[in-house]
Amino acid sequence: MRHFITFDDVSVDELKRILELAETIKAEYKSGQSKPYLPGKVLALIFEKQSLRTRVSFEAGMTHLGGASMFLGDDVGFGKRESTVDFGHVLSSMVDVIAFRAKKHESVVELAKYCTCPVINALTDFAHPCQILADLLTIKERFHTLEGVKMAWVGDANNVAASLVRAAVKLGIQVVFATPEKYQFDTQTVTQITAFDPNYRFEQLTDPFEAVRGADVICTDVWVSMGQETEEAVRKADFADYQVNGKLLAAAEKNCIFLHCLPAKRGLEVTDEVMDSPQSAIVQEAENRMHAQKGLLVWLLNEANSK
Ligand code: CP
Ligand code: NVA
Repeated sequence: MRHFITFDDVSVDELKRILELAETIKAEYKSGQSKPYLPGKVLALIFEKQSLRTRVSFEAGMTHLGGASMFLGDDVGFGKRESTVDFGHVLSSMVDVIAFRAKKHESVVELAKYCTCPVINALTDFAHPCQILADLLTIKERFHTLEGVKMAWVGDANNVAASLVRAAVKLGIQVVFATPEKYQFDTQTVTQITAFDPNYRFEQLTDPFEAVRGADVICTDVWVSMGQETEEAVRKADFADYQVNGKLLAAAEKNCIFLHCLPAKRGLEVTDEVMDSPQSAIVQEAENRMHAQKGLLVWLLNEANSK
């Protein structure tokens, strides 16, 4: 069974195929020519954390594809009411695909072991690959290519950042990080991330202005991710110099775009000026969650796991 838990689960060609499907299905949808790629298929959504984009994009997307979705939230008591083996066997006997937003990455990995249908990572503390599919789609739409695009990530080396760099290594995209030393990826993680291409130039800097020099895309995310609330005061102080504001955006390429997975804390990691500027692609990026995940669902169900 093929799952989508991190970018390690797909080859370069498969990743490109998912993006190609996303572009095709988006174009069909935008021209009012949506096709029912997944008639009668059922997606179950288990969410241990809050969500707007991920939940809505999966549910709306599945409806557009001719399938159905079932939002189970946290009510099914994953890890509390029964063993993961029983949970996985039963749930996957009734649905065709599962999207799981879990507090712990291991929960998604563990569930996938026992499922007879594909499991999609809908965000964990370690990875958020669905977000990066949407980001790649957005960059491709804005620059008409992914080749040669230079990205800068300003802020925490978190779950979203980790997925970004995993995809970037696979696709040969340059990403320069600006992160306070204490919050950077450790050596072991860097080795894991770059295992796919040991020659990949992995740059972790501390100076945001240095990182954005020549950048076509600036990305950031919240300083305090879900589950890190007790560290809020310390993190706010530690990241104070890492705000994406007008001055930082002006230090990048003239046509640089701004990406943020959202939800954002306006006035902290990013200013209103940047969020609302013509260079901001955040709404397109959020909408692309739906188109990218349609590509993923169709790939998983009709190609990767087709019988
Ligand atoms: N970007 C993202 O995953 O948003 P939600 O937490 O609202 O799903
Ligand atoms: N890094 C954030 C992303 C939210 C979509 C979090 O994990 O809370």
